[in-house]
Amino acid sequence: MEKKIIIAIDGHSSCGKGTLAKNLANELGYLFIDSGAMYRAVTLYLTRANISLDEVQADPAILGNIKITFQYEEERHYYETYLNGENVENEIRSMEIARKVSPVSAIAEVRHFLVAQQQQMGEQKGVVMDGRDIGTVVFPEAELKIFMTASAEIRAKRRYDELTAKGIHVNYQEVLHNIKERDFIDSNRAESPLVKAEDAITLDNTSMSKKQQAQLSLSWARGVIKALS
Ligand code: DC
Repeated sequence: MEKKIIIAIDGHSSCGKGTLAKNLANELGYLFIDSGAMYRAVTLYLTRANISLDEVQADPAILGNIKITFQYEEERHYYETYLNGENVENEIRSMEIARKVSPVSAIAEVRHFLVAQQQQMGEQKGVVMDGRDIGTVVFPEAELKIFMTASAEIRAKRRYDELTAKGIHVNYQEVLHNIKERDFIDSNRAESPLVKAEDAITLDNTSMSKKQQAQLSLSWARGVIKALS
């Protein structure tokens, strides 16, 4: 029987990790988990409840009130994020949450809370998870690790186009600034900073089409599965 593996996809903000991960999951019949959505959902919860990061650090049990789940949306071939039973898929993608999420994700208590849940989701294997620390902290034993990157300008352009297409009005410079700021915080925090795992394959997609990336990553995944089966 074909062996199921764990595929860890890490990299900078807005470089297409989600698209690549979703495609791999669909092709292989695996579960797709967007770990960034979990950090965004925690950020939304804390924002709405007006809870500061100091309060979370002083009383991490507060996090126990947060339940994050994913539900597969047949029509869109998409997993949507639910916070305590409410669909928050659109709200967690807003610029407000994008601005606030990096400091939230730098808090050790938040990371421990979410990493434990992510590891549980991968227990049965057959999972593609994207994030910043999946190949280094969540699944250091993942059979395939991909580290994605692209220039900040091209990432900002793609993000700008994506938001504009959804009718969300943003300023390109603001998007670029947000991406650079998140890169800095994500890469320089003390707790699980964004680093390439030693055994990860780098995928720089600055000048690659989505189709090329999809084909290449699928060939890597099939190669690993075949070698292990
Ligand atoms: O992938 P994303 O842009 O939706 O992630 C949102 C934020 O969450 C990002 O600024 C970094 C953080 N994050 C993280 O620290 N660790 C992860 N595994 C995933 C996301």
